[in-house]
Amino acid sequence: MVKVDKFIHDSIEKIKTQIKGRAIIALSGGVDSSVCAVLAHRAIGDMLTPIYIDTGLMRKGETERIKTIFSVMNLQVVDGKVNFLKALKGQTDPENKRKAVGEAFIREFEKEARKLGARYLIQGTIYPDRIESEGGIKSHHNVGGLPSVIDFEGIVEPIADLYKDEVREVARALGLPKEISDRMPFPGPGLSVRIIGEVTEEKLDVVREANAIVEEELLEKFAPWQTFAALIEKGTGVKGDVRVHGWIIAVRAVSSRDGMTAESMELPWKVLRKIESRITSQIPNVSRVLYDLTPKPPATIEFE
Ligand code: XMP
Repeated sequence: MVKVDKFIHDSIEKIKTQIKGRAIIALSGGVDSSVCAVLAHRAIGDMLTPIYIDTGLMRKGETERIKTIFSVMNLQVVDGKVNFLKALKGQTDPENKRKAVGEAFIREFEKEARKLGARYLIQGTIYPDRIESEGGIKSHHNVGGLPSVIDFEGIVEPIADLYKDEVREVARALGLPKEISDRMPFPGPGLSVRIIGEVTEEKLDVVREANAIVEEELLEKFAPWQTFAALIEKGTGVKGDVRVHGWIIAVRAVSSRDGMTAESMELPWKVLRKIESRITSQIPNVSRVLYDLTPKPPATIEFE
C-alpha cells in the first residue's frame, strides 16, 4: 500500500509538471481511464475536462451507464457514431481497422480540445498496450493506432508503466467504486475488434445483443477475466422450416492475470447450451454459436 500511495503522489506531481494549461482526458469508463481522470483531476483540477466519445462501438447500455457513473464530473459526451462508422467503412484488415479507430478517436478529441482551448490529451494507456504495440503483436488503438500527425502539444499517459492488476490497486486506493476498480476490460476499439471483417450497423447490432446475453450468463457467476461474444461470418442453418444464411457467434470466456496470456474457461455444458439457446432464439439472424477453446497464445483474447 505504501508503494501505491507513493505512486499516486508521484504521478500527481509529474502531471503537474507535464501539463501547462487546459487538458482533456479520453474517458471510456474503464478502470484505466477512470484512474487517470482522478489522478489528473487531483493534479490540475478544473483545468481538466473529461470527454467520452460514443463511438457506436460500445456495449448495450454502456453510454447511459457511463453518464450516470461520471455525472459528478464535468463529463462531456460526444456523439461520434456517424464518424466512426464512416472511418471503418470498407475496412477489412484488422490492423487498418484499429488504425481507423485510433485516428477517428484523435480527430474527435482534437475537435473538442480546440473548442475548449486544451492543448494536452491524457490517455489511460497501460504497460501491456505499449508492449504489444511495440512488439508488433497489434496496434492498440491508443498507441500504434495513432496517426503520425496529432494536433496536441503533449500526450500524457500517467499509468503507462502499470499492469492491469496494479491499476486496479491504484483505483481502490483512490476510492473509486468497485464497479470501476473491478470492471472487466473492454478494448478501446470496442465491438469493432469483435467483428471479423468490415464493421456494419447490422453486425454491430447482432454482436451487441449477443454480448449482452453472454455477460448476463457468465459475468457474475463465473467472474472471468473477460467474457464476450464475437461475430465471425455467416453459415447455413435451419430456422423454423427454412434454410437460412445466418451469423455465426463465438463465445469467449477467459481467465488471466494480466491479459498477456490467457486460458479458456472450462464452463458447465448446461451454461453453454443456455447461452446458445438464448442467442439463437432471441437474435433472429444468428444460426450458429461456437465456444472458443483457444488459450493466448496462440490466440489473442479479442478476435482481431
Ligand atoms: P488481446 O486481444 O491482444 O488483448 O489478447 C489483451 C487485452 O487488451 C485488450 N485490448 C485492447 N485494449 N485498446 C485497448 O484499450 C486496444 O486496441 C486493445 N486491443 C485489445 C483486450 O480486451 C484484452 O483485455
